Amino acid sequence: MKKLLFPLFAIAIACTTTIVSCSKDNEQDLGNNNPPDGGGNNNCDTANMKYAANIQPIISASCYGCHANGNVSGGVSLGTYAGVKAQVDNGNLLHVINHDPGYPAMPQGGSKLSDCNINKIRSWINHGALNN
Ligand code: HEC
Repeated sequence: MKKLLFPLFAIAIACTTTIVSCSKDNEQDLGNNNPPDGGGNNNCDTANMKYAANIQPIISASCYGCHANGNVSGGVSLGTYAGVKAQVDNGNLLHVINHDPGYPAMPQGGSKLSDCNINKIRSWINHGALNN
């Protein structure tokens, strides 16, 4: 009984077609995002600031502990738009968050708001401090 052995060899030919697919993403210049209103802070978007979406969350996070929900430190309530607007109109709001001389620095005993957040509030005030 004779077996015909086919010398099956080297069928597997190494297809060394190394296709290096180098999909190179377009590099975008993400560096310069200066706000148009002179915020002077890269990567801080201060355009079209809205009270509900942009400003109230900052106040809530940093000020509500002493100025909302029954707390009216210094007689100041910031829990509502009207309360915040009153501090805008009397000029105190920007002074206290800027830590300007002659005003109690806010948040009291806490760290100053970031430049970005201060610029957002300033931009919102400069555009009328609307209840938007
Ligand atoms: C830990 C408590 C506390 C936090 C947090 C706090 N405040 Fe005050 N705030 C006070 C106290 C106390 C006074 C009264 C201080 C005084 O009259 O010297 C005051 C006073 C003020 C006044 C009145 C200033 C004046 O000259 O009459 C404003 C405006 C004010 N805070 C805004 C804010 C804002 C905005 C934030 C958040 C960024 C904030 N506060 C966070 C405790 C706090």
